[in-house]
This record gives sequence, structure tokens and C-alpha cells, in this order.
Amino acid sequence: MNMIFLGAPGAGKGTQAEVVCRELNIPALSTGNMLREAVKNGTPAGLAAKDYMDRGDLVPDEIVIGILKDRIAKDDAKNGFILDGFPRTVAQAEALENMGVRIDKVIEIDVPDEAITARMSGRRVCEGCGNSYHIKFKPTKVEGICDACGAKVVQRIDDKPETVQARLKTYHEKTAPLKDYYKSRGKLVTVQGQNEIEETSRLTLAAIKG
Ligand code: AP5
Repeated sequence: MNMIFLGAPGAGKGTQAEVVCRELNIPALSTGNMLREAVKNGTPAGLAAKDYMDRGDLVPDEIVIGILKDRIAKDDAKNGFILDGFPRTVAQAEALENMGVRIDKVIEIDVPDEAITARMSGRRVCEGCGNSYHIKFKPTKVEGICDACGAKVVQRIDDKPETVQARLKTYHEKTAPLKDYYKSRGKLVTVQGQNEIEETSRLTLAAIKG
């Protein structure tokens, strides 16, 4: 199954994608993780993307579409995938269609802005593999160390409160219109994401299988 996880920054797309990947044995393709990796490695795409990301703006469509196109063509995506953080504009959704990529379901994880702001301050991410944790809701087994790969977990630069506000504004202006885009195509299913992580996973899996 080919799916898109849609939702505001911090709604829990990455957290739920991790659970669903394990359950369905398909990869999660996160454009945010790909871009952070590109920034870390100093690639041309990473150098072009960094300033946009640091201020909570979207990276230009042509850069992200190029990165996604290369990733989606890899063998591990042949039997299904979750797109986490892509598309984020109508132009990106159209590019996906033009690539001939079939989307079966778009799972929107819906969380009110107030809950997002509270959540983001506690998020920690792995410097090595990009896994996401929360100091209260999803702590690492050993403080400061990733459970999956043993690298250090740190706070993301764009999780500062003022940048989170900018990202939320960007989401409402540029990404939220995708809800109507996919609703009109009969693909959109909305899951309430403000409950505990396990409950949200239960609702997400039910929405996928239903
Ligand atoms: P990206 O990395 O995609 O960030 P985002 O969409 O802002 O999403 P997040 O990763 O912040 O949140 P999430 O929904 O995955 O939440 P998570 O599961 O981590 O993008 C970063 C930047 O890259 C963008 O700003 C942009 O510049 C650029 N970019 C990326 N894709 C792009 C594109 N397509 N086009 C243009 N630019 C692009 O959860 C958040 C926290 O909450 C965690 O700590 C988690 O443990 C906790 N949590 C999760 N669920 C719950 C719960 N139910 N209860 C309590 N805590 C929870």
C-alpha cells in the first residue's frame, strides 16, 4: 500500500510512521530526514535547503521533488511506502501524480496547535538515524542515547518555540489545502492524534486497514 501521512509539524507523523512500517514491513520516506541528512553531508541540495529549514519555511518544491523522486525509485519502495512530510504543497502533489505514483490512502493526523506547541519542546531526535523521541511521552531507555543505533539524541534547531510558530503558520497556509485536494479524490482519512501514542497507533492502523 502506498500512503501519505499528512499533518502539522509535531502531529506525530514520524512516530506513527515508525509503528506502521514495523507492522506492514514497508519503508517510511521522510523528506525532513532526507533534507537533514543532506544538510549534515553538505550536499548542494542540503546547502540550498538549510536556511529555509532553520526559519521554519518550506524548501523550494524543485529541490524536494528531486530528492523524493530519487528515493521513491529505490527497490525497497517497490512493495509500498509511507510518505512522511511529502507532499507539502499542491505543486508537490501534482508532481507525484505526474511521476505516475499511485496513492492508496492519505492519513491525516489531526492535533490542535496548542497541543503541538506543548509537545515540541520535549522532542529529541537521533543525530545518527533520525529516530524521534520525547523526554516525557517516549523517552529513550538510556538518557540521551538512541535506542535504535546508540548515537546521541539532541533537540532540533527548528524546535525552538518561535520557529515552531513559523512552521505552524506555513503548514496552515501551504500544506493544509492538501486536505481538500485529497478529499476530493476520495483518499483522505482523518485520525485524531491528540491521544496517547499507543492509542493514536491503534486508530492509525484501523484507518489504514479499514
Ligand atoms: P519535517 O522533518 O517533515 O518536520 P515536520 O513536518 O515539521 O514534522 P515533524 O518531524 O516536526 O513532526 P512529526 O509530525 O513527524 O512528529 P513526531 O512524530 O516527530 O520537516 C522539517 C523541515 O524540512 C520543514 O520545516 C521544511 O523546511 C523541510 N521540508 C520537509 N519536507 C518538505 C517538503 N515536502 N517540502 C518542503 N520543505 C520540506 O512527534 C513530535 C513529538 O511529539 C515527538 O517528540 C514525539 O515523541 C511526540 N509525540 C508524537 N505523538 C505523540 C502523542 N500522541 N502524544 C504525546 N507525544 C507525542
